Amino acid sequence: MIRRVRTTCRARFVSLGRVSVTIRHAQPSDYGRVIQHVNAWWGGREMAPMLPQLFFLHFEGTSFVADDGDGRLAGFLVGFLSQTDPDDAYVHFVGVAPEQRGSGLGRELYERFFAAAREAGRSTVRCVTSPVNESSIAFHEALGFEVDRVATDYDGPGEDRVLLLKRLG
Ligand SMILES: CC(C)(COP(=O)(O)OP(=O)(O)OC[C@H]1O[C@@H](n2cnc3c(N)ncnc32)[C@H](O)[C@@H]1OP(=O)(O)O)[C@@H](O)C(=O)NCCC(=O)NCCS
Repeated sequence: MIRRVRTTCRARFVSLGRVSVTIRHAQPSDYGRVIQHVNAWWGGREMAPMLPQLFFLHFEGTSFVADDGDGRLAGFLVGFLSQTDPDDAYVHFVGVAPEQRGSGLGRELYERFFAAAREAGRSTVRCVTSPVNESSIAFHEALGFEVDRVATDYDGPGEDRVLLLKRLG
């Protein structure tokens, strides 16, 4: 018999000034709700193929979605604990609906991830972003990330990446 590890679903209501959202662990059923927005939220870049459903099946405990008061998707964060380095946790995608940006929701999603990473004994959070995504770099720096290095051809020819890291206090 296959047993599924269930995450404790501690949904949390968060009021962020003009925005009120409920943040909870991501569920497999959230995949369709998220993926339909990804390219648009990334300014029309073809990002959806980099977020296959597996992240919503196997990383529930370290992935989060935020819904607004009408049940619409306000934001999400997909991350996981490194299988290779027991000190590291990694954020693969974070996105906030354009109309909700600047409210602190991106930071709030990250705070949930930092708490999950700390709880699992991780001391470093890593992520990568594209050099063209200057707003992502600025956002991460505001959250206390520092640029580790800029890696040429990191994700294949011509796919340079900015490697960011944050030490959890
Ligand atoms: C990046 C993103 C997730 C930020 O979400 P957000 O909810 O607007 O961010 P917050 O309101 O929580 O901002 C947190 C901090 O980051 C800063 N910040 C956010 N976006 C910024 C930007 N474009 N330029 C400069 N600083 C920015 C805020 O000023 C804030 O700093 P403060 O707390 O010191 O005042 C959102 O803009 C987004 O979804 N972008 C498209 C997808 C993307 O590029 N994701 C990241 C790569 S995976």
